Amino acid sequence: MSKYIINGGKKLYGKVNINGAKNSVLPLLATCLLTDEPVIIHNCPEISDVRNMCKIIVNLGCKVTHEKDTIILDSSDMFCNEIPIDLAKELRSSLFLMGSLLTRCRKAKIAYPGGCDIGLRPIDIHLKALQELNIKIEEKYGYIYCSVDKIKGADIQLDIPSVGATENIMMAAVMAEGKTTVRNPAKEPEIVDLQNLLNKMGAKIKGAGSSIIEIEGVKKLHGGEHIPISDRISAGTYLIAGAVCGGEIEINNINPEHIFSLTSKLNKNSCKITSLNDKIIISSDGRLNSLGKVETMYYPGFPTDLQAQLMALSCVCKGTTKIVENIFETRFNHVPELIKMGADIVVEGRMAVVNGVDRLSGADVYAKDLRGGAALVIAALSAQGLTTVNDIYHIERGYENFEDNLAKLGAEIIKV
Ligand code: UD1
Repeated sequence: MSKYIINGGKKLYGKVNINGAKNSVLPLLATCLLTDEPVIIHNCPEISDVRNMCKIIVNLGCKVTHEKDTIILDSSDMFCNEIPIDLAKELRSSLFLMGSLLTRCRKAKIAYPGGCDIGLRPIDIHLKALQELNIKIEEKYGYIYCSVDKIKGADIQLDIPSVGATENIMMAAVMAEGKTTVRNPAKEPEIVDLQNLLNKMGAKIKGAGSSIIEIEGVKKLHGGEHIPISDRISAGTYLIAGAVCGGEIEINNINPEHIFSLTSKLNKNSCKITSLNDKIIISSDGRLNSLGKVETMYYPGFPTDLQAQLMALSCVCKGTTKIVENIFETRFNHVPELIKMGADIVVEGRMAVVNGVDRLSGADVYAKDLRGGAALVIAALSAQGLTTVNDIYHIERGYENFEDNLAKLGAEIIKV
């Protein structure tokens, strides 16, 4: 299995270009099932989550063509409405296909999805919302069986603003009979991106990014072409690496608004952040003060997907940082690995209390999930000596050219 070997302690200087957002591209790929015309998505990241989503779509009988970082999807010959266990287990986003499969085929059989092991990840909100759209759901033998005669618009209140459920509802309701209102939806930029592509394809959706989304069912969608938003979590990961290692990094092709919850914190600390139209420049001397208390929250709050990376930074801040994980139950798999590197962290329920130490030291550590793995790389970049980060297949689910990008910035990192 591949691993990274990192010799820490190098300052980072240079530029990084951010690719299309993983969490946008995955649901955008699912829109191809809503039309029998081609859907073209540009700037797709070359990561295993995208490869696995394409595999699932090909298994449904669709044609997927890659031209550099553009993916062209054609579902005109689609013949299958089943997502088997071996494909679904690789990717939680297989769940997003439920809404579009039902719109297209009126029937779907989907194995329970996989994804990062970051605590209980129920799908009750997805299922309840789909039922409100007149869809019948039965759960048996590890599969979810869905069927519907006619999807009917509904007034849906979400108990939690789930990103995936909001996306599923949008794709299930886009051609429903009548109007659907989603109250308390997720407000993430990826939801707005999905609305934008669906509207280009002929949908009538408004309100994404606000507290109410309204979907007027249309008869048919046509093909579309789209450049997804850039990956705010990748950008945030490089920003945190820059903050902790010291140096100066220019992060290109990113909407600074999308990660203001991070840059505002770093800016108030000892980093200097300059945000321009589509770039962020960070310069840092590498030793920050404690960030106080940071709580993960739904957008525009601090993203849970940057919690682990921020913890790696907090390990070497001056003073104590308290990190509260409000979104997922047990998203602290990176803590024991950081402790192996000399971090002083105590977990109390959903809170991690991180007492900054002068320096971490290299160790043999294991990535347990995608973002936790990225956090270990950040910790290793700033640590004294050699770190081996094992099981980097988790990291490769979501970061394109991670080691190359970091090496170009001056990090000593190799993949073996
Ligand atoms: C998406 C992102 C993921 C991010 C997460 C939260 C993608 C591909 N993944 O995941 O990177 O960490 O948003 O920002 O976009 N919940 C339920 N029942 C449900 C659905 C969710 O209780 O039916 C709970 C979850 O357990 C979690 C919270 O709602 O506590 C948020 O989850 P959700 O927004 O659905 O996350 P995902 O869409 O899976």
